[in-house]
Amino acid sequence: MMLERNMTASPSRTAKVAEDHLVLSEVGMTFGTADVIPSLSLAVRRGEMVAFLGPSGCGKTTTLRMIAGLIAPSRGRISVGWRDITRLPVHERDMGLVFQSYALFPHMTVSQNVAFGLEMRGIAKREIRVRVETALEMVQLGHLSDRKPRALSGGQQQRVALARALVVEPSILLLDEPLSNLDAKLRDEMRVQIRSLQQQSGITAVFVTHDQVEALSMCDRIVVMRGGHIEQFGTPGEIYEHPATPFVASFVGRTNRLSGVVEPSGRLAAAGQGLLAEGALPVGQVQIMMRPHRVALLAAHEHVPPGHNALRGRLTGITFVGDLIQANVRVGEDEITVEQPTRRSTALPLMGAEVTVSWEAGDTMVFAGGAT
Ligand SMILES: Nc1ncnc2c1ncn2[C@@H]1O[C@H](COP(=O)(O)OP(=O)(O)O)[C@@H](O)[C@H]1O
Ligand SMILES: [Mg+2]
Repeated sequence: MMLERNMTASPSRTAKVAEDHLVLSEVGMTFGTADVIPSLSLAVRRGEMVAFLGPSGCGKTTTLRMIAGLIAPSRGRISVGWRDITRLPVHERDMGLVFQSYALFPHMTVSQNVAFGLEMRGIAKREIRVRVETALEMVQLGHLSDRKPRALSGGQQQRVALARALVVEPSILLLDEPLSNLDAKLRDEMRVQIRSLQQQSGITAVFVTHDQVEALSMCDRIVVMRGGHIEQFGTPGEIYEHPATPFVASFVGRTNRLSGVVEPSGRLAAAGQGLLAEGALPVGQVQIMMRPHRVALLAAHEHVPPGHNALRGRLTGITFVGDLIQANVRVGEDEITVEQPTRRSTALPLMGAEVTVSWEAGDTMVFAGGAT
């Protein structure tokens, strides 16, 4: 259907599967003398949910507020469906907003809160009643429509905020850390609920979070941000398996770090031992990374299958954690963490023993430059 509409709208874009919906072109924000967002460009496709993921202070909320129209960018252009909205006021942007603090009206009931946006738009009373009911059913709060916000749990309040944002049928939904105030169990439930609502309605959504699990599990694509710029924009699989930078590798998932070198011949080595990796390698000092759970701990002279790396080291720590064994192995100046599932027959090597750590060539991530 999307493709059909595209074809009638613009024959020149028929090759695209999904059209770009929300586009930021060289958008920047300067507060006083601080260049919080130097220049940011990205395109969110129609119907997808994109996460802005990054540490606190990297500019996620600032970017979202520029998209919402709550602050005006210092430079650049924001467009929705090819229409320039950079200077459009908030209430003309057709966007639904959900924040970490639920920002409900305390003196209004749940249904009054949800109805508010529709009343502002001058919609008929009868239609408002139906739409509010539908929206509250959608977030499973139909039975609490007469309550005041203070008589609701945090999760329920956040669902009211979600219903209030969706009831006006915005073309884009913006969520800023909406689950951060909820306890772990509720957060898991709400993740599933928000994702399924977004998929059912087919709404384009931007989801700001500092939580990698949220970004990986809920979103179609992830923008990894750092210091006001984009480190990588890709699917969860791409971000996790092929991080573009050491920052992405260590921010999304956990990772080991080894310092190494790529010789002019192309040979990769760490602590004087040769290693295998896939793809082209940058000659010179490198950082080598691999995920702890992709590394196995072997006895010193155990057989290593072809296509696997083998690094000799000394066991400096080992912890049995039931499901897992966590081991630390010193290799040259670096320490490697190994995490492997336990078996009944697993015999733990002794502390100080010579061991081999092993992993598949394809699990070796290599980045130019020394340790930072
Ligand atoms: N109104 C403002 N005035 C000055 N600095 C601001 C303002 N808003 C945000 N900042 C600064 O911009 C940076 C990015 O903030 P923010 O976008 O809130 O980050 P995040 O949401 O990723 O945690 C921070 O250093 C913050 O202090
Ligand atoms: Mg923020």
